Amino acid sequence: MLLEINDIHVHYGKIEAIKGISLEVAEGEIVTLIGANGAGKTTTLKTISGLRTLTSGSITFDGTDISRLPGHKRVLAGIGQAPEGRGVFPGMTVTENLLMGAYARKGDFGKDLDEVFELFPRLAERRDQAGGTMSGGEQQMVAIGRALMSRPKVLLLDEPSMGLAPKLVAQIFSIIKEINDRGTTVLLVEQNAQQALQLAHRAYVLETGRVVKSAPAADLLHDPQVREAYLGGELGAH
Ligand SMILES: Nc1ncnc2c1ncn2[C@@H]1O[C@H](COP(=O)(O)OP(=O)(O)O)[C@@H](O)[C@H]1O
Ligand SMILES: [Mg+2]
Repeated sequence: MLLEINDIHVHYGKIEAIKGISLEVAEGEIVTLIGANGAGKTTTLKTISGLRTLTSGSITFDGTDISRLPGHKRVLAGIGQAPEGRGVFPGMTVTENLLMGAYARKGDFGKDLDEVFELFPRLAERRDQAGGTMSGGEQQMVAIGRALMSRPKVLLLDEPSMGLAPKLVAQIFSIIKEINDRGTTVLLVEQNAQQALQLAHRAYVLETGRVVKSAPAADLLHDPQVREAYLGGELGAH
């Protein structure tokens, strides 16, 4: 197993946001976490990338316990994250933003930049434009491209489709598939459950800090409870 999360508990002050979550991601998979606002999706990703500390439980990555490893060392180990809300540096150009993703590494990043520009031709056209003047969809591309610059083994994506027009949502999802086809494992958090379940191999449903269901993603598309709660209703609605 590439990534194993074992019964983690995470607190904000006295409030327990994650109440014992366990999940696994195998090499080559796209795994999605779905769930309502406040379910603990972002906190789970932040705990994996080291931005939040766990109270108990453990995280194993590539055979090593990384539960107490600082975030920048997790990036070097192969955990890349495109954060919720994108976090593009507004005053830096697209290229400079992308290079920030490689900060923890040494060496020549020309080839990695070329690969990101191949994946996102739009960013290649706009490489000298300031990040802050890019559209929402383009900034999402910068955030994903920046995470890829660290050459992650697993890419953590927090609601990449948030706030995007339907056409751009489809484009982002097809790029995630392309990234996975090229060999990167993906852990995808989404509120857009329909599309996430169509793309992912497996899925976990989170409710108030717990996993309430895990199954092959295609099965959840046809699960009456999941349809009712997350897919807007009865079978055959789409
Ligand atoms: N910085 C914070 N301080 C206090 N509570 C927080 C903070 N961030 C998140 N929470 C709480 O933790 C829970 C999980 O939040 P979050 O992981 O952001 O959920 P999701 O991403 O699924 O919407 C929620 O109850 C939320 O209110
Ligand atoms: Mg969130």
